[in-house]
Amino acid sequence: MKLFDVYPLYDLTPVRGSDVFVYDAANQAYLDLYGGHAVVSIGHGHPHFVSRIKDQLEQLVFYSNAIINPLQQALATKLGQLSCLDTYQLFLCNSGAEANENALKLASFYTGKSRIIAFQNSFHGRTSAAVAVTDNPKIVAPLNAHHPVTFLPFNDPQQLENELKKGDVAGVIIEVIQGVGGLDQPETKFLEQLEQLCNLYGALIIADEVQSGYGRTGAFFAYQHASITPHIISMAKGMGNGFPIGGILIHPTIEAAYGLLGTTFGGNHLACAAALAVLEVLEKEKLQEHAQEMGAYFFESAKVLPEVKKIKGKGLMLGLEFDFEVGPLRKKLLYDHHIMTGGSSNKNLLRLLPPLTIQQNHIAQFFTALKEAL
Ligand SMILES: Cc1ncc(COP(=O)(O)O)c(C=O)c1O
Repeated sequence: MKLFDVYPLYDLTPVRGSDVFVYDAANQAYLDLYGGHAVVSIGHGHPHFVSRIKDQLEQLVFYSNAIINPLQQALATKLGQLSCLDTYQLFLCNSGAEANENALKLASFYTGKSRIIAFQNSFHGRTSAAVAVTDNPKIVAPLNAHHPVTFLPFNDPQQLENELKKGDVAGVIIEVIQGVGGLDQPETKFLEQLEQLCNLYGALIIADEVQSGYGRTGAFFAYQHASITPHIISMAKGMGNGFPIGGILIHPTIEAAYGLLGTTFGGNHLACAAALAVLEVLEKEKLQEHAQEMGAYFFESAKVLPEVKKIKGKGLMLGLEFDFEVGPLRKKLLYDHHIMTGGSSNKNLLRLLPPLTIQQNHIAQFFTALKEAL
């Protein structure tokens, strides 16, 4: 059987990983500044992560959501503590798209309305409503296109108010730092205006923290750099360090009812053990604070490069913008210097999403290679 050929592949086959490196079968090390797309948060093969999953594997891998699973409550408690959102409620699922799908559905249930406002250049996933609120017509099938969605630019409160005034908007979904779209951020003032307008017109704020969450930007969630209160927060990538898990945090004013949301695999025992291990390591190794420090070091190092036109992002969600397309540069970094990087829909942007355990010497290694490659 052939694989369905939807991914252009780099000629690289990693067979094992350790902290910020992956290795091929010939034991060649590659510095992973991509984290498998912001997924590897606490480093490849972290010993605490491995042993917690191994222990759970021997106990119980899975049972459906029809029984009491104390690991879910332990995860909710730890997540509430580290994110400072202990009054929120947790619903667990398996991926970023699924988290957004549930967030959008819940906003619609809660408000009884159906239209969603999303932002230009957004990426929220590939399932039904998640892809409909993604600003990329190429990945929206006719089946997905029937959802009522309006795309607006950042930083235009008047347009936002004009749409909200119509009274049919269930929610506004926003990446406070855009990921796939190329690391653009709205102004803090606009986020505050968005909050006021949503509260005035009864629409929910959905913060998509699938990529920017879990300490990556130096705050637990990126929206926490501003002072807004979302009604729903979606998360996934860094949550399980590669073990598939996602979820939404739900404001205490939104009440649950049996059957409102559901999933077979979401919140299973093994996924909860993985997610707990991630939070325990984030806390013990102070990785959120570390992300902030490493981000500052990265900005300092990038500033002196004349080829870099713009440094984007926060903490360890980073981008370097050039005045040329970075595809060939990324290949050079990979094949000549053994460094993995990311791209975005902005073809001139080199995107970096390393494990949060990265150290100064790895960043220095990257800049030495970048200078040579340039
Ligand atoms: C901001 C954002 N939301 C949602 C998703 C979708 O997540 P998943 O691929 O786990 O469905 C992504 C994936 O890149 C993302 O970056």
